[in-house]
Amino acid sequence: MALRKIMLSGVKPTGRPHLGNYFGAMRQFVKLAEEHEAFVMIADLHALTTLHNAAELKQNTLDLALDYLAIGLDPAKVTIFKQSEVPAHAELAWIFNTLVTVPYLQRAHAYKDAEAKGKELDAGTFTYPVLMAADILLYSTDIVPVGRDQKQHVEYARDIAEKFNHTYGETFKLPNPLILSDVETVPGIDGQKMSKSYNNIIPLFASDEEITKAVMAIVTDSSGERPENVYQIHKLFKSAGELASLYEDKKGKYKELKEALIDDIKTFTKPLRERREELAKNPEEIIKILQAGSAKARESATIKLTEVKQKVGLDL
Ligand code: AMP
Ligand code: TRP
Repeated sequence: MALRKIMLSGVKPTGRPHLGNYFGAMRQFVKLAEEHEAFVMIADLHALTTLHNAAELKQNTLDLALDYLAIGLDPAKVTIFKQSEVPAHAELAWIFNTLVTVPYLQRAHAYKDAEAKGKELDAGTFTYPVLMAADILLYSTDIVPVGRDQKQHVEYARDIAEKFNHTYGETFKLPNPLILSDVETVPGIDGQKMSKSYNNIIPLFASDEEITKAVMAIVTDSSGERPENVYQIHKLFKSAGELASLYEDKKGKYKELKEALIDDIKTFTKPLRERREELAKNPEEIIKILQAGSAKARESATIKLTEVKQKVGLDL
């Protein structure tokens, strides 16, 4: 049997996942896991660049594990793990840090944005792409499903792999991003990219009241053919054909269109929410799943790290 290709991705445990996270990335994890050897990470080391509260980080980590299971990742088939439980990530990131240059890291969008805003940057945020390269390259990953905002990070992983290979000999496989064009940047309720930092999200596991409140707050203007911000979110749940007749029928009736969207979000998310509520009854089970996944990830990662240590001369 041909070996299956490898998929790896991750999400930072920094708060509740929203529709952008789900449609842009997480849904692809589930689909790809059917045909790939799949690694799905809780990127807790990355989360530390913005979250400095132990209780919150722990709670977010357990919550994200539940989210992963609730969207349909099966721990019997997918290695679900906590990044910090696999020390090879931080070790390899250090080795990569000695290869990448400061000007190269200064070209990263995230760095440039922070710089433009005059923010003081911590060293972890500066080397964020290096740790992410280590995450990806340790597992000989073929494909990295992510949203558009992570494209550059996957390119950094490729560059770093090439630089290492060039310096020390062929070691790392070059990964490819998987970015679905129709959901690469899901807009929030204000039409900008949906993002927790813009306060414009619809949480994936929102209650009925939260869904209603968020949708009713979608910014509309009456200049175009249809309320564009409502439509762009509605598109996630219904085909263009279905929407064409709905938006024709209810032309100009923004409140009714919003009500239809509320119903569609509720219908879609209800089974996920119910599954999550069920799973949340057994927190010990979640911890066990993470422990088992992390042990498996450690095993895989150690093989690559051992090879790297030999290549660079850290073995004896
Ligand atoms: P994060 O919460 O930053 O760890 O993001 C997790 C995943 O969701 C990453 O692959 C992001 O690219 C993706 N993502 C975040 N926001 C959006 C969005 N508005 N549209 C599409 N994908 C997104
Ligand atoms: N940086 C990613 C984000 O913010 C999360 C992440 C960390 C990741 N390591 C990864 C995604 C490796 C894909 C592969 O969304």
